[in-house]
Amino acid sequence: MSKIQNVTVLGSGVLGGQIAWHTAYKGKTVVVYDISADAVDRCKAAHNQYAEIYKKDVGASEADIDATRARLRYSIDLADAVEEADLVIEAVPEVPAIKTEVYQQMAPLLPPHTLIATNSSTLLARDFAAATGRPDKYCAMHYANLIWIMNVIEVMAHKQTSRETLREATEFAIETGMVPIAVLKEQNGYVLNTWFVPLITAAQTLVTNGISTPQDVDRTYLKVNAGASMGPMALIDMVGMKTFFDVLSYWGQVNKDQQMLDNAAYVKAHFLDKGLLGTQTGQGYYTYPNPAFQQKDFLAVPDLSKVGEIVERVYLGVSSNV
Ligand SMILES: NC(=O)c1ccc[n+]([C@@H]2O[C@H](COP(=O)([O-])OP(=O)(O)OC[C@H]3O[C@@H](n4cnc5c(N)ncnc54)[C@H](O)[C@@H]3O)[C@@H](O)[C@H]2O)c1
Repeated sequence: MSKIQNVTVLGSGVLGGQIAWHTAYKGKTVVVYDISADAVDRCKAAHNQYAEIYKKDVGASEADIDATRARLRYSIDLADAVEEADLVIEAVPEVPAIKTEVYQQMAPLLPPHTLIATNSSTLLARDFAAATGRPDKYCAMHYANLIWIMNVIEVMAHKQTSRETLREATEFAIETGMVPIAVLKEQNGYVLNTWFVPLITAAQTLVTNGISTPQDVDRTYLKVNAGASMGPMALIDMVGMKTFFDVLSYWGQVNKDQQMLDNAAYVKAHFLDKGLLGTQTGQGYYTYPNPAFQQKDFLAVPDLSKVGEIVERVYLGVSSNV
């Protein structure tokens, strides 16, 4: 058994909520921390959904679900949330200023032995190591969304991370049913997001620039990736519009990439401003449950009666750009 038994998850959104539930399901005692009671309530609602998903997809019994719930606690008081933590997993928004502030607030409150891991998707632990006040006990542990199916943790160090921290993080990953992926050099995006973020960004560009529709982007992807269950637009819904927006706007600004900024503006206008956050709220590019891409006819050869509509879309699209 690893030394890590008490885990605190900072941020109870899309990923924090999953990490907290899964970690409790795997037998650890978990405190979920967020800044508001509303956020915690959203997390509790997500946990009710995960209870059903774990029964259906993971084979959890009622007793397993009850035991998971008994190991979970929710808090909006940071001192209370971290006072017994062996490991804090940070899953607050992908906004450097927010992460830095949380680490600085937490530093004086932590027991001396506590390890900290960031679940950041695209940022580097080295940029926050000083703010944690314990750089040797800090590393990245990056989960993939839908962690009960995509059960990997990418383990990545920065120069000051100790061997012992990496050993404990890796033991924890294995004990909680995750395949540890060793990232050998610091890399924004680790292994997964080095290709995943460009994939969903390219798909978004096709939509932002009016080259294609979300459905046709996914149709194309699913046709040529036989066996895949989601195309890139559905994956954007799964990631969540807020985090997708944060990534697009931050990296758009850092790299002075106008297309990324245009993509961010599109996501804001079409989704965030309307309170549509993706799968989390039941509406993004698709409507959930039973999204169109899961319907039987989504990938079928269409009826000849559809020819007129397809021709008009191609014709009008080109003529409007003349
Ligand atoms: N969404 C994904 O698919 C995914 C996958 C892997 C990693 N991540 C990473 O996980 C982190 C969280 O992403 P998410 O998608 O869960 O975001 P999210 O927007 O769904 O959730 C973020 C949560 O953090 C809370 N929060 C905001 N400020 C806070 C603070 N100061 N202290 C504590 N909580 C605070 C928010 O209220 C919200 O509940 C990001 O770094 C993201 O890059 C996301």
